[in-house]
Amino acid sequence: MQIRGLTKTIRGKAIVNRLDLEVRAGEIFGLLGPNGAGKTTTIRMIVGLIGMSGGEVMIDGLSVKRQFEDAMKRVGAIVENPEMYKYLSGYHNLLHFARMHEGVTKARIDEVAELVGLKERIRDKVRTYSLGMRQRLGVAQALLHRPKVLILDEPTNGLDPAGIRELRDYLRQLAQTEGLAIIVSSHLLSEMELMCDRVAIIRQGELIDVRPVRELAAGPSDAKLPVVFEVNEPASAQLLLASSYPEAAFECTGSERGGTSEGAVEGRLARRGIPSAVRTLVQAGIEVYGVRSSGRTLEEQFLELTGGERHA
Ligand SMILES: Nc1ncnc2c1ncn2[C@@H]1O[C@H](COP(=O)(O)OP(=O)(O)OP(=O)(O)O)[C@@H](O)[C@H]1O
Ligand SMILES: [Mg+2]
Repeated sequence: MQIRGLTKTIRGKAIVNRLDLEVRAGEIFGLLGPNGAGKTTTIRMIVGLIGMSGGEVMIDGLSVKRQFEDAMKRVGAIVENPEMYKYLSGYHNLLHFARMHEGVTKARIDEVAELVGLKERIRDKVRTYSLGMRQRLGVAQALLHRPKVLILDEPTNGLDPAGIRELRDYLRQLAQTEGLAIIVSSHLLSEMELMCDRVAIIRQGELIDVRPVRELAAGPSDAKLPVVFEVNEPASAQLLLASSYPEAAFECTGSERGGTSEGAVEGRLARRGIPSAVRTLVQAGIEVYGVRSSGRTLEEQFLELTGGERHA
């Protein structure tokens, strides 16, 4: 799927502003942004629920604007909550939705039920399903017509950690076995990190960045992170480290422990500088009991990237 210059303006206000994205077959792609960033609006434009004010979306080479029906045959989506008939079984819901597409066989219904792990419960009424099972049924319904692109708006809403993990596992399997391009949206970086290969960060309708999740979690490799050395002689360790690493602003922290002179020295070092700092201490005869280095939390990174509350 290719998005070029996608824009939505409502009453003179750009809710989505010149968005450019590309999602490849076989990948799980995240749209990450705080509430009101424009994720749902973007998805609505992709699936034609609302018009575009500008730009273009291509699905498998087909224009959503000019070849709408053919483009939509290649898309399966759940926007906000999947709506199902609760008094019908999962199977009958799927049968009902299957009628909206050409050529969806009963064998395909069984297949999608199995794909999302609902095989055992597919004959039960939807009202007996848990939230996670309803979510799966929604995904099964979106998959019926063998789309090439699967779009799920906030799929983890209301799921517990185990449910999120299951969702991630079967989405990953789908992306790989069916060669699907999967797009999920969320306002939670921690969930995106678990589910996606790449993440687009959106703030106030604008694309801030697209990054592989691996980089998102690690941060830049030369970033200076807080590091704490637990040592037997904090005062001399502090002097030593401060003279070897004047930039790191090492200082003694933490109280000395019961009767011993044990304590902590804290400063900021790039991760790759930690081994040589340990060596410096050891070579000076200082006992090192522990080294703790904490990266910025994912929440801190997210707030930094999206501007946090400062721009709200
Ligand atoms: N029909 C509309 N008329 C006016 N403003 C709208 C309309 N639809 C959306 N907006 C505004 O556009 C912005 C983006 O909304 P959108 O629902 O796309 O955000 P979102 O990223 O999906 O947020 P959330 O995480 O809360 O689901 C919001 O400020 C919203 O109030
Ligand atoms: Mg939304």
